[in-house]
Amino acid sequence: MKQPALLLRDFGVGVRIGLTLLCLVILGGSAVSGMYLRDHHSGRDERAGFSVDDIRAHYHGIRSKSPMVVALDENKHPKDLDPKLRAALLDWLNGDRLTQDYDNFDLGDMAPAEILADNCISCHDANATGPDAYPQLPLRYFDQVKAASVSRDIQPVSEKVLMASLHAHALGIGSVCIIAVLLLALTRAPSAFKGLFAVLIGAGLLIDLAAWIPVRDNVTLVWAIMGGGLAFQAGTVLALCTVILDLWLPRGPRE
Ligand code: HEC
Repeated sequence: MKQPALLLRDFGVGVRIGLTLLCLVILGGSAVSGMYLRDHHSGRDERAGFSVDDIRAHYHGIRSKSPMVVALDENKHPKDLDPKLRAALLDWLNGDRLTQDYDNFDLGDMAPAEILADNCISCHDANATGPDAYPQLPLRYFDQVKAASVSRDIQPVSEKVLMASLHAHALGIGSVCIIAVLLLALTRAPSAFKGLFAVLIGAGLLIDLAAWIPVRDNVTLVWAIMGGGLAFQAGTVLALCTVILDLWLPRGPRE
């Protein structure tokens, strides 16, 4: 196999130490930015935890009706619910006294907390079992009920902030990636691997960033952001690890 004329391994010890440390800085930086991304975006969808919806909310926005209203009103779920109770729940959900009336003593048996306890939590509880149980959506406590009741109208990040962030990411990360690919090219790794990692980095970053603007209109491009981001992160980590290894692995007999 033909090796490049210039090899990282031929640099002096000092340069190789410096390059190794800088590679570690970039690896550390991408770990930190992964954590930052998680903290920064989780909760963006007004639901606990970090999920695809957080990314969706940030880049595209989320507009959805209250799942409770959809179930009760549009889907007539559960089928055997007394129409009077269904109407009472819907009035409550569509009104503006969600918190005040939830367990309002004056409402007696018509208090939403009572109706839910009698008609819903046999299936909608974290411990509910049985063929019809739906523990994914517990409705025992007010917090749980509230999360399923509110409609969401989450605006995506403003265009101005998006543009500022896009240009910083494109120039900053783009430059780091060019350096990573160049260093990778000067290693003794098999060219098939070098080529694969380089394409992962270049294509991944391009696909991720190129989707940021059109995703505002087309929500499926969220997967391009996630897939591209993952590919370029994986490519960068693999490339930098290859570089660090190559800087210190002994020269073979051929060289
Ligand atoms: C016999 C069991 C059972 C009862 C009783 C029941 N549910 Fe459900 N519920 C389910 C199952 C199973 C699903 C998921 C499948 C579906 O959507 O039909 C569900 C889905 C839902 C959803 C939609 C969840 C989503 O992911 O969008 C809501 C909201 C809901 N139920 C509210 C209620 C309310 C309010 C009551 C009481 C008035 C109630 N359910 C009573 C079994 C039940």
